Amino acid sequence: MKFCTLLAAATTMVSMAAAATLEPIVMKDRHFFGAKSGKPFFIRGVDYQPGGSAAFKKGSDPLSDINTCARDIFLFQQLGINTIRVYSVDPALNHDECMSLMASAGIYLVLDVNSPLPEEHLNNQEPWTTYTENYLKHVFSVIEVFSGYTNTLAYLAGNEVVFEKESAKTSPNYLKAVVRDMKAYITEQVSRVIPVGYSNADDLNFRISLAKYLECGPVGYIDFFGVNSYQWCGHNTFLGSGYDKLVEDYTDYSLPVFFTEFGCNESPPRLWEEIGSLYHENMTNVFSGGLVYEYTQEANNYGIVDVAKNGAVKTRKDFMTLIDAYEKAPAEPPLPAGATHPTRPEKCAASDDPIYDNIVANHTLPFTFGKDMIKNGMGSVVTRGKLIKDISQRATTYNVMIDGKMISDKTVKATHSYDGAPLPAGGHGKNTGGGVGEGAPVTDLPDGASSAAAIGGFKTTMVGSLAAVAVVFGMFL
Ligand SMILES: *[C@@H]1O[C@H](CO)[C@@H](O)[C@H](O)[C@H]1NC(C)=O
Ligand SMILES: *[C@@H]1O[C@H](CO)[C@@H](O)[C@H](O)[C@H]1NC(C)=O
Repeated sequence: MKFCTLLAAATTMVSMAAAATLEPIVMKDRHFFGAKSGKPFFIRGVDYQPGGSAAFKKGSDPLSDINTCARDIFLFQQLGINTIRVYSVDPALNHDECMSLMASAGIYLVLDVNSPLPEEHLNNQEPWTTYTENYLKHVFSVIEVFSGYTNTLAYLAGNEVVFEKESAKTSPNYLKAVVRDMKAYITEQVSRVIPVGYSNADDLNFRISLAKYLECGPVGYIDFFGVNSYQWCGHNTFLGSGYDKLVEDYTDYSLPVFFTEFGCNESPPRLWEEIGSLYHENMTNVFSGGLVYEYTQEANNYGIVDVAKNGAVKTRKDFMTLIDAYEKAPAEPPLPAGATHPTRPEKCAASDDPIYDNIVANHTLPFTFGKDMIKNGMGSVVTRGKLIKDISQRATTYNVMIDGKMISDKTVKATHSYDGAPLPAGGHGKNTGGGVGEGAPVTDLPDGASSAAAIGGFKTTMVGSLAAVAVVFGMFL
């Protein structure tokens, strides 16, 4: 019933507002905004890795087959979402059709740069064994390919890399080195700023300490913090679930925060009551929305759709309850006045400061193996993606069943236009925490000091980190 109303409404909207233009999303202070409209952007989305992230293999990924993409983007439109997160991709494949179909539906991508394959992620017990030139080659290739798409919203340098005692000891400064390298690559090779963040495990031991560590310093600081949270279960409330405490913990954080995963599955079907708080002013000052874990039903039982072996898809109950929850949430969530935080990057505290409890906060980052790739780009290894007008297929051939009804018109509606002009060559040139990873200590410099020396050989001289950051984030609005 709900579904039919929704389809009718969507159709009307399309005919009235076919002219919406897909705009890049930029960060300012601690929130996301449309680069042209200046409108606050709240992430409303799902995590998307059909087959599960552990099953990833070379030669196929969630954004490389247009028939599958058309099937799922059609369903994303029924949910009314604006973003998906993908965990692993193969940069050797062509993603132009899927990314273009997503763009035409106004859907953005948050992309992890790692995969479970060897040389494509850090070993979090012994990161020094896996932080290698080949690893960075993979990371930079992913960035090179996806930076060509206007609807690439952000990159994630890691997912739950720190998750217990040993990883909390060994991994934090390697994680920051990866962030540093990714940002250096984007600075040198991509002509727009694409934010780099981290997706944190749902563990009170690291909730604040790791967030604080990743936030600070002139080099290798993240642009946003992703929170994986499963603490609101079943029928609950803002206070009862502890969400009030969660918000309080990040109230003074300098960066955007959003859920990179949420959706406790302890009492199915899920009611998604947390969505009522997530887009309410109780949270919008601190949280920029979130991503539901996850689209397809896998062994761990978090899916909102079932995909059969033959590619047919059927929605689960949780899909319908999710439509209801998103429908009730405001289309334009309130952004409270004064929700700003002009002081980034934050200064680092001493390594033994209690704010870094439970992790080893080593402020010296390992030397990079990526210097030449950062300087020369990956253009000879992979092809940068581009949005195309000529998409071969806008309707899937797979069967789609929603709430028990077989759907006949499965065409993805074009709600957004985009221009396919390639990004200008070269980087954006403003250092926002990259550097070539010479391995120099990254302890804080006096305010206003030039950090060119500390980051060694960087093309753009940085005149006071705060001023440089203000320029980068001011110029798009
Ligand atoms: C907002 O927070 C107040 C407590 O400060 C709580 O009583 C109320 O239920 C919350 N509302 C939502 C939608 O989270
Ligand atoms: C900090 O990290 C650097 C680079 O990995 C390493 O050389 C150094 O030994 C570490 N310091 C401590 C105290 O662990």
